[in-house]
Amino acid sequence: MTMREKLELLEQRRAESEQGGGDARIKAQHAKGKLSARERLDLLLDGGTFVELDRFVVHRSTDFGLDKQKIFGDGVVTGYGRIDGRLVYVFSQDFTVFGGSLSESFAEKICKIMDLAVRNGAPVIGLNDSGGARIQEGVVSLGGYAEIFLRNTLASGVVPQISAILGPCAGGAVYSPAITDFTFMVRGTSYMFVTGPNVVKTVTHEDVTMEQLGGADTHAATSGVAHCAFDSEPACIQAIRDLLRFIPSNNVSDPPRGPAIDPRERRDEALLDIVPDNPNKPYDMHEVLRRIVDGGEFFEIQPDFAANIICGFAHLGSYSVGIVANQPAVLAGVLDINASIKAARFIRFCDAFNIPVVTFEDVPGFLPGVGQEHGGIIKHGAKLLYAYCEATVPKLTVITRKAYGGAYDVMSSKHIRGDYNVAWPTAEIAVMGPKGAVEILFRKEIADSGDPAKATDAKIEEYREKFAHPYIAAGRGYLDDIIDPRETRPRLIDALESLESKRDKNPAKKHGNIPL
Ligand code: HXC
Repeated sequence: MTMREKLELLEQRRAESEQGGGDARIKAQHAKGKLSARERLDLLLDGGTFVELDRFVVHRSTDFGLDKQKIFGDGVVTGYGRIDGRLVYVFSQDFTVFGGSLSESFAEKICKIMDLAVRNGAPVIGLNDSGGARIQEGVVSLGGYAEIFLRNTLASGVVPQISAILGPCAGGAVYSPAITDFTFMVRGTSYMFVTGPNVVKTVTHEDVTMEQLGGADTHAATSGVAHCAFDSEPACIQAIRDLLRFIPSNNVSDPPRGPAIDPRERRDEALLDIVPDNPNKPYDMHEVLRRIVDGGEFFEIQPDFAANIICGFAHLGSYSVGIVANQPAVLAGVLDINASIKAARFIRFCDAFNIPVVTFEDVPGFLPGVGQEHGGIIKHGAKLLYAYCEATVPKLTVITRKAYGGAYDVMSSKHIRGDYNVAWPTAEIAVMGPKGAVEILFRKEIADSGDPAKATDAKIEEYREKFAHPYIAAGRGYLDDIIDPRETRPRLIDALESLESKRDKNPAKKHGNIPL
């Protein structure tokens, strides 16, 4: 064969490798409202930047007639490319080839790009669309999954790992995403479950649809397994690109700076009137955040899960920050099991990747109740405490209103290494709210008073005057300052600047033992 003929053969094989499971299966994929593995990569990466690796890899299996069904690439497209010019490693599972199921060779391809990503300090983005372990390959396929789980774990905290779930993902195909930092899903076409509805029916006799058991809304709102749900694949993939604008490529890089779109000294008059005079009235913390961050732009993580706490990324004076904020408009902003777990994981991500944590606090305390106690609020609340305590990134706290009880300690207080802690004049800092405190301290006095309602009101007023303000905390130095709400933005940006070269570390250890 001449060189030209050899090149022609190469071209033929390259073209063949791009067919995946063939036209009919790609059409079936489209008919379900899903894109093909390669179309997804086209949307994800900057145009023309994808470099494919291992396109000629095939499986090595001979059982069940598989030796007659070898397809170039073996059901996963892998390689690297750029997002806004930054290097990322990617794999995109191809449902048209054996249902995207994972073979030994398929696993080796994913492991190869994961190893490269860690070595070169770049994020790993996995587009998942897979029926799990390739059943015909048996234990070899299980071994392949275990190799991926190990790499997911070792890469955790070294490079960001982002998963999109873009089809019915079962078994191993959900455990790998679960170890990654962020999992995004698409409504109506993506599912995650350990076992599907049929197995559930056999084992527990429950009738449940795919959507109810493991659809995007189920995982984004009920289980908390997914971080965001989207209406379409293009929206989901665009969100991955957007997320990268806030996070660094690895744990020794700084996060990317945002564009200078908002004056640093901008004061917002409306912040004066957001907190109602009546301390029992809710307000929307999103409104506060929107008025403070650059351009009002906020990338929220888990917006539909435990909405009593808000987590997400923003830029402040172009610095990338992770924001954790109690939401008085939902359950009065109370800390419960789900809120604690959600925020703890978010804070640990920020800490692992050098992203300062800015906390906005208005919290009446931990949620009382048998359900919460039996569900382990002590252990789960401790996760949040642990995450804040161990974090060594810059920690900034603004108390807008209530900081009661354990929640005062937890929410990035000075005592657990808060770097810059300030309060608005509306702050109330005490062991508990006035009503609860008065009922405990003056129960007998009130009962003996002849007019319990009037006596209670008087005692509440006395308690409010004594404790329901920030001056005792500020008098102790537990707050660095009490600020005009309108100045929140310039104050925070100034603090971020002063903390740019912050150095702090935890004692040497193999690893801590966060209460799981
Ligand atoms: C081999 C598979 C496969 C698998 C699907 N296919 N899953 N082939 N191994 N795991 C093949 C089908 O045979 C079919 O081939 C094609 O992919 C499309 O599948 P359909 O069933 O026609 O598609 P759909 O109706 O959309 O259903 C998708 C599905 C279903 C929900 C994913 O296929 C399914 O339930 N698959 C099995 C899921 C599972 O139990 N996996 C193992 C998990 S255990 P043809 O040629 O007919 O088109 C595991 C261990 C890891 O992963 C341990 C982790 C801790």
